[in-house]
Amino acid sequence: MSVSAHRGEILHFLGNPEIERAAAIAHFQDGLLVIEDGVIQYCGPANQRIETLPSECQIIAHHNALILPGFVDTHIHFPQVEVMAAYGTQLLDWLETHTFPAEAKFSDETYASEVARFFLDQLLANGTTTALVFGTVHPQSVDAFFTEAGKRNLRMICGKVMMDRNAPENLRDTPEQGYKDSKNLIERWHNKGRLGYAVTPRFAPTSSEAQLETVQNLIEEFPDVHMHTHLAENREECEWVASLFPDSNSYLGVYDQFKLLGRRSVFAHSIHLSDSDWRRLGETSSCVAHCPMSNLFIGSGLFSYRSALEAKVHVGLGTDVGGGDSLSILRSVNEAYKVQQLQGYNLSPFQSLYLATLGGAETLDLDQKIGNFTVGKEADFVVLDYAATPLIDFRIKHCRSIAERIFVLQMLGDDRAVRQTYVLGEKSKPE
Ligand code: GUN
Ligand code: ZN
Repeated sequence: MSVSAHRGEILHFLGNPEIERAAAIAHFQDGLLVIEDGVIQYCGPANQRIETLPSECQIIAHHNALILPGFVDTHIHFPQVEVMAAYGTQLLDWLETHTFPAEAKFSDETYASEVARFFLDQLLANGTTTALVFGTVHPQSVDAFFTEAGKRNLRMICGKVMMDRNAPENLRDTPEQGYKDSKNLIERWHNKGRLGYAVTPRFAPTSSEAQLETVQNLIEEFPDVHMHTHLAENREECEWVASLFPDSNSYLGVYDQFKLLGRRSVFAHSIHLSDSDWRRLGETSSCVAHCPMSNLFIGSGLFSYRSALEAKVHVGLGTDVGGGDSLSILRSVNEAYKVQQLQGYNLSPFQSLYLATLGGAETLDLDQKIGNFTVGKEADFVVLDYAATPLIDFRIKHCRSIAERIFVLQMLGDDRAVRQTYVLGEKSKPE
């Protein structure tokens, strides 16, 4: 048995602050996080537990820092790190020009492994300990990703892209092959340690009706896998979907027609939706990944968080790399704040960190395992540095409350603010 304790300022969430107000926020100025065999055994004031720790317990002190649950990225593409920050255009042209050529390289499993290692190191450097991840159409891209994530003991969800039309030939599967490859990957990886599978049709324009039927079959056959796709990101994309599926009354309606909505379905972007779409997402317990960096970078539009709240739809944050121009969930929070500002909604500093942690875990239906520090959860956490840069250090010294301090970290922070990342209680930030 191994026991360790981390002492310092701790913040985590017990619920959604927008709904449960102060009761959702747990903050300990002098806190203690006790971990036994990678699992949370205690989180609370240090003085209530420090005296009774077993003598062999190592106590690690984190000065001038904030301990938070690990960040959850609810939508990201690991093969797209190499097209981050690519100059130019909006979604459909960006896919053709930058993304598809990059994804074609992942037929080579050695290359896929190399990128997966780099990607996971970058996530850990940014404090992200769990993510819902797109692979490419090649099953070997997912084998490479899960192999590397497994070596790091990470809780990760990934899936092979399914696309059988409107894409370059070397990136297309068929309904039969896509089904077979996905099923094999599920059998090989799903629930293996901390890994989970997501059936991953890219988006409605790149799947035929026959393929969407196979997606439905897979999630019926394996009801605890996730379903991960894009929805209503870009105006031109929405018009294209309307022309490809003339019998559907909306973009969401296409997925609905194939019974792809549900508690384990995550729809990235979800910008251009009607009130009835929002109601339908809510009544089916479907979830949404808000990707503000990508929505700004490739000019897709402004996500309405208020609509999601009103419809009681779970929302998590996603970087959507390579559409997003940073792997940092702190940067994602920064842009989320501004996107809501433009729509007259003030995203509070607590609400933002809830979205980055427990909210993300709820969106992925993983909140029984991760997202906060309740006893029995897996001990994935980050230590943010109040003196990460001279500017952050200076600005933090002028803060009077935890709310002010976390807002400064959100607005001025990125990977430089992440002093350490722990996975199952073990130091995991690359040196
Ligand atoms: N829609 C379909 N594919 C993609 C992708 O790779 N990135 C983004 N941002 N949107 C998409
Ligand atoms: Zn995406």
